[in-house]
Amino acid sequence: MTTPLMQAVKELALSAGPLIRDAFLEPDRPAYSLKGQQDYLTETDLAVEQFVREQITQRFPQDGVLGEEGGGLTDVERLWIVDPIDGTANFARNIAHFCISLGVMVQGQLEAGAIYDPMRDELFLAGRGQGAWLNGRRLQVSNISALNMASAEIGWSSRKPVDAYLNLVSRTMHTGCAVRRAGSGALGLAYVSAGRIECYAEQHINAWDVAAGLLLVTEAGGRINPFWANDGLRQGNAVLASNALLADSFSALTQISLA
Ligand code: IPD
Repeated sequence: MTTPLMQAVKELALSAGPLIRDAFLEPDRPAYSLKGQQDYLTETDLAVEQFVREQITQRFPQDGVLGEEGGGLTDVERLWIVDPIDGTANFARNIAHFCISLGVMVQGQLEAGAIYDPMRDELFLAGRGQGAWLNGRRLQVSNISALNMASAEIGWSSRKPVDAYLNLVSRTMHTGCAVRRAGSGALGLAYVSAGRIECYAEQHINAWDVAAGLLLVTEAGGRINPFWANDGLRQGNAVLASNALLADSFSALTQISLA
């Protein structure tokens, strides 16, 4: 069943999609800037976040909004966690692999989430207890049970030391697991929920990158680490999301606990 909150998050993601897609296809797109090492920002991130904030405030004036670009975490009953463009580095460098990610948390628990890839027209939607869906089709994580048949995305940012990342990639590849890094944590999690890959792991990631994706993975029958522990909402955390059959193996490999 699509709950009213799932419907709202879906409509908002779909209405922001054309803003992102049209800006990406614009030949005279303004240059990007950097917030930090390999940490990209474009005018479109700011414009889309502004649009999303306005829509939420108009429709749900009591709700809070935590956005990647504008922050805004307040003590509210219902919080929208917004990444206007996840995969900004791809967007900025003309690679068509990015999305908008919207998660809605009620009293500290994720209730609904949507991830929309406007270039592939793929809408990933989840509601707590309502399943995970891709363009209306029910999603389930894969049933691959051997690491040497599996694919994992291991995300990277300059927030963690290079050697820690390389060690994790090396350990994973030595099991025979295929490793990728496609530059959008939200889409990586959505792909776990869709059974396209078995695992998404990253040694540190922010709440707006993962809020919707974590709900997608659990609703598709996968397992995740307790990301919200230790103030994950404000500080970010390590993330691990896996299909059910390989979750313990990926947890041992990444040293990210599922408990
Ligand atoms: C980044 C992407 C990337 C992940 C980084 C994130 P952004 O978010 O999700 O895949 O590895 O940790 O910061 O900057 O594209 O919104």
